[in-house]
Amino acid sequence: MKKLLCAAALVGMSSLASAQQVNVICSVQADWCNMIATVYARTTGVKINLALKGSGEALAQLIAEKDNPKTDVWFGGTGDPHLQAAESGLTLEYKSPTLSQLYPWAQQQAQQSGFKTVGIYSGPLGFGYNTELLKKKKLAVPQSWADLLKPEYKGDIQVANPASSGTAYTMIATLVQLMGEEKAFDYLKGLHKNVGQYTRSGTGPIKAVARGETAVSISFVHDAPQERMQGFPVETVTPAEGTGAEIGSMSIVKGARNLAEAKKFYEWALTPQAQTFGAAAKQFQLPSNKGTVVDANVPDFKKIKMINYDYAKYGASAERRRLIARWEKDVNSLPR
Ligand code: F6P
Repeated sequence: MKKLLCAAALVGMSSLASAQQVNVICSVQADWCNMIATVYARTTGVKINLALKGSGEALAQLIAEKDNPKTDVWFGGTGDPHLQAAESGLTLEYKSPTLSQLYPWAQQQAQQSGFKTVGIYSGPLGFGYNTELLKKKKLAVPQSWADLLKPEYKGDIQVANPASSGTAYTMIATLVQLMGEEKAFDYLKGLHKNVGQYTRSGTGPIKAVARGETAVSISFVHDAPQERMQGFPVETVTPAEGTGAEIGSMSIVKGARNLAEAKKFYEWALTPQAQTFGAAAKQFQLPSNKGTVVDANVPDFKKIKMINYDYAKYGASAERRRLIARWEKDVNSLPR
């Protein structure tokens, strides 16, 4: 009897311990991740163990953990790899009661994945540029995808590597949809000649622009105001031909060890109040809950020429893998 009681107490203790934490891979910038972890712990008593990883790296981690998941929730990062995770059976079907409060694009992300992911924010792709450096180098502000191929930008453009970065994959998928695949790959080969560096993280290039290490970046427009607020001479523009947008997403991992807490965190993250922490951390994606107050720094989609991005097609595992492999083989292997 005593043994049984001891065992019950131990089970109770271990479930209590595991009930008070959530393991989160966070694919937005560190300030936002840290802010939600701090606020959530203070208001609920539940500890969030954070792992900061770009979208592609986060997916790679979930694949590696498949048989023994250590992650409970994947928060943020571009939507395509979340859709790939859903299709690969890495994430859990969960229909949030909050879905009806979200914008149609966020609900569509959930529907397309069989409710294995959901949109938490959106943001358009564009170019960042350093106003002072452009002036110093007597370079014009690039206005179009075509402009980026001009020889005068040689070595002065940065973009991330699509294998690790969802931002860069969004660029490839956008170009394929704009131009058709063959022309898009010809374009990427031309762009390669002008790229000074492919970074690991999607936000690396805009930070390099801010610090004057490169003149131009291919970046999400919402990542620029934060740099400007720090006093850096950064502006953005969106390409005249049209551009794509990400649907930043959130998924619960299949086999999550802290499932009940994972669901509570997920629900919290969809509330208007939780969604204001993006702007509070100086990150200006458009939040997915219609009730969230939209900060004045959030890009205005109505003023941007957007393509009708096919999220289901470009989030499909085979397509994403194929396009990234083709980029490695046909583009990244070329000399610059
Ligand atoms: O956190 C900023 C951000 O641009 C997000 O909007 C986006 O989901 C994420 O970075 C993508 O990061 P990466 O390109 O490194 O996967």
